[in-house]
Amino acid sequence: MAILNQPTQPFAGQKPGTSGLRKKVGVFQQPHYLENFVQAIFDAVPELAGGVLVAGGDGRFHNRAAIQTILKMAAANGVARVLVAQDGLLSTPAASCVIRKHGATGGIILSASHNPGGPDGDFGIKYNAANGGPAAEKITDAIYARTQSLNEYRISNSADLPLGELGSFTLESMAVEVIDPVADYAELMQQIFDFGLIRAWFAAGHRIHFDAMSAISGPYAKHILEDLLGAAPGSVVNAVPLEDFGGHHPDPNPAHAGDLIRAMSGPDAADLGAASDGDADRNMIVGRDFLVSPSDSLAIMTAQAMRIPGYRSGIAGVARSMPTSRAADAVAKDLGIACFETPTGWKFFGNLLDAGLATLCGEESYGSGSNHVREKDGVWAVLFWLNLLAATGQSVEEIVRAHWAKYGRHYYSRHDYEGIDCDAANGLMAHLRAALPGLPGKAFGRLVVARADDFAYDDPVDGSRTSAQGVRIELEGDSRVVFRLSGTGTEGATLRVYLEAFEADPAQHAVPVQEKLAELIVLAKEVAGIAGRTGRSEPSVIA
Ligand code: G1P
Ligand code: ZN
Repeated sequence: MAILNQPTQPFAGQKPGTSGLRKKVGVFQQPHYLENFVQAIFDAVPELAGGVLVAGGDGRFHNRAAIQTILKMAAANGVARVLVAQDGLLSTPAASCVIRKHGATGGIILSASHNPGGPDGDFGIKYNAANGGPAAEKITDAIYARTQSLNEYRISNSADLPLGELGSFTLESMAVEVIDPVADYAELMQQIFDFGLIRAWFAAGHRIHFDAMSAISGPYAKHILEDLLGAAPGSVVNAVPLEDFGGHHPDPNPAHAGDLIRAMSGPDAADLGAASDGDADRNMIVGRDFLVSPSDSLAIMTAQAMRIPGYRSGIAGVARSMPTSRAADAVAKDLGIACFETPTGWKFFGNLLDAGLATLCGEESYGSGSNHVREKDGVWAVLFWLNLLAATGQSVEEIVRAHWAKYGRHYYSRHDYEGIDCDAANGLMAHLRAALPGLPGKAFGRLVVARADDFAYDDPVDGSRTSAQGVRIELEGDSRVVFRLSGTGTEGATLRVYLEAFEADPAQHAVPVQEKLAELIVLAKEVAGIAGRTGRSEPSVIA
């Protein structure tokens, strides 16, 4: 075995987006592409030399090859010890849990989350810090800067390590431990939720239908729900992680989880339906013939946290990404706790959680989590709902309708225009930004603009400012439209239009979502000039 200094040249565009560096598999397969980025991580985080690294990924195509490269480069860069998951498989929340539990210096997670996988799909890599959360922008900026200047990387020429069995090895002078990917995570869940109560609920004949979408949540959900909690065998479907997710989008939302929605329709459906994404950090919650919007889910979790053993001592505050509906704000106000509004992306919750300012966090994009780890957490959210169902004896729909009756309903939808021309997308945002000063007071049909701005966030913990995070147009009467461009796509640009309308009157809560939002949808198209600028008259995905 020897350590090689391999000459290389920078690749353009290795800039991490909303959640790490994501590109087509073919881009990552180019010689030196992954290696350059990994070397940039080791250079930008010098404490990894002599430190402890956690490594694993969501099992998508290229995971197997990439994990070996990372181990050989970690050894060559002086990492003292690596905890690598068996077969290189580790969900994103479990990686966060392992980093925290073992006091690791950081972790490298291989995932492109909900993006499709396979040889023609997407691949991704991100660095998580010692708190278990996605590296702060200061670090991702340093990693990117390093990718643009490095001219060699270090790698061991050793043979691949066998990762199929638990065990310990030495690679150069680095200790390698192959760990059980599920054990630490399952233990943490048992500390938070009332497993005895949920077991009794299943024993009484209640049922769950969990669709793992052929992704990494499968092994976690199967062990926890079926083995530990006694859900009927077969409650977890598509439980085996596949390198191409069976050719599907592993994205739990109405557009891609049609099977789950069908399985949850009709009187014989299970009590709780759920799905999780490619790396198991997202969640979708479905009742019998009833979808729960992620923004409502966060608000309900906040309102009901006292029912969960792990949060019974009280929650410090709740945080939501700016485009997420303001349903959680209403609960926070009622409970007298703080509510934080952050830019899109889980990394902005890290400081709030570390400082003890927020306990629960969520995003409209089917993500919720708490201070138990520093990532959003799909299986955790499902256990939260299971615990709620068991503790209240109510159905999903009853819980949500009672919540709306008390706090009002924040009607919500996101319209995505995918794969549009990048220049057109940037032009549209520039046009909106330029129009901001003239918007207040302007009428669009019956809707009148009350306020309009480009969201900027001042982190209350480290004082950093993040600007240009999305154009918000608030209308009189508590409705709102938000525009931003996706930071996770790999093809063209995606315009996201977030629509929200508040309705206090329970008699109106049965109105269908798109109907309730119809006037806002017209306003959004008009004010941004969507059709003229993008050539699209309708969104490609409505969630
Ligand atoms: C999307 C979601 C965002 C989430 C991110 C990573 O980012 O909108 O809420 O944090 O995926 O899962 P976007 O593509 O909008 O930048
Ligand atoms: Zn994900």
